[in-house]
Formats: sequence, structure tokens, C-alpha cells
Amino acid sequence: MRIRPSSSDDLATILIIESLTNKIPWTEQQFLSSAEVGHHSLVIEEKEGVVGFAIYSPIVPESHLLNIAITPSNQGRGLGRQLLQKVILQNQLLGVKSLTLEVRVSNNSAISLYESEGFLKDAIRPDYYSGVVREDALLMSLLIK
Ligand SMILES: CC(C)(COP(=O)(O)OP(=O)(O)OC[C@H]1O[C@@H](n2cnc3c(N)ncnc32)[C@H](O)[C@@H]1OP(=O)(O)O)[C@@H](O)C(=O)NCCC(=O)NCCS
Repeated sequence: MRIRPSSSDDLATILIIESLTNKIPWTEQQFLSSAEVGHHSLVIEEKEGVVGFAIYSPIVPESHLLNIAITPSNQGRGLGRQLLQKVILQNQLLGVKSLTLEVRVSNNSAISLYESEGFLKDAIRPDYYSGVVREDALLMSLLIK
């Protein structure tokens, strides 16, 4: 397992992972704009190739985790936690003091991962996620020392 910054060569794989893991997947244009504006993007790689990615936007002393996903066949193996811990470490090194995120209120596995890494539940943003059925977002944050 290796975690490294993503490159443009990873985009096709990231788009596949995104389509398999996100109810409202980011488009290719959204990933390109994200890179353009300077968001930080990491991939987690195994022998067979890239199996996950994370994107965050640091505006020190704050930072926002915009996206994190592991391919369905590799979930539950501890890879998401390792990727999240790398994101936290990189933010700490950048001088970030508060890392925030939004998560669907129904996404229990992600919420328990975040809680076990020290994120606190801050607020609910009603109807944050659009789509046929709208869903509330849980806002969470991690204080980094
Ligand atoms: C959320 C996600 C990134 C976690 O990655 P993962 O590799 O599956 O997670 P890990 O194997 O590292 O597990 C970490 C923790 O997550 C929680 N978790 C993982 N799978 C779970 C499940 N099926 N049910 C409940 N909790 C679960 C547990 O707390 C677990 O810790 P534990 O193994 O010590 O109990 C991954 O499931 C994913 O890509 N989901 C779809 C995309 C998504 O929802 N992203 C988050 C958007 S905010």
C-alpha cells in the first residue's frame, strides 16, 4: 500500500471510483476545476493500482475535506482510515487547526470512521444533498493541535 499525490494520469480511475461510491458523483469537469484551484489530492495505491482517493482544500488555519472514497471491493480493510490519517497529518504539517467536512446523515460507516479519528458532530445542514430524495448533511470538525 502506498499513498501519494494524485496526477492527471489518475483521473480516469478516480472517475470510476467516484461513480461507484458517490450517489451524486463529481463530474470530470469538477475534478479538473478542483485541481485547477489548487485543492490537494491524494491516491491510495495497491499492487493492482489506485483503489481510493481523497481531496481537501486547505486555507490555513482551516481546511475542508471535500471527498474521500475507497473502491467498494476494498472497503472495510482499513485503507480509508490510513488515507484519512494521511490527510490529517498533511493538514497538521500545513498548520491547519480545524479540519471540517460534510457527510450524509445516513452514512454510518463514514461517520464512525470520522468519530473514531476524533471528529466531533457540529451541526445538521437540512436538505444539503439534492437528488430525487433530498438528505441532510452532518457537519463535523477535527481540532488539530
Ligand atoms: C467511508 C470510506 C472512505 C471508509 O473507508 P474504508 O476503507 O471502508 O474504511 P476502513 O476499513 O478504514 O474502516 C474504518 C472505520 O470505518 C467504519 N466502518 C467501515 N466500514 C463500516 C461498515 N460497513 N459499517 C460500519 N462502520 C464501518 C468503522 O468505524 C471502521 O473502523 P473499525 O474497522 O476499526 O471498526 C469508504 O467506506 C467509502 O469509500 N465509502 C463511500 C464513499 C463515502 O461515503 N465517502 C465519505 C463521504 S463524506
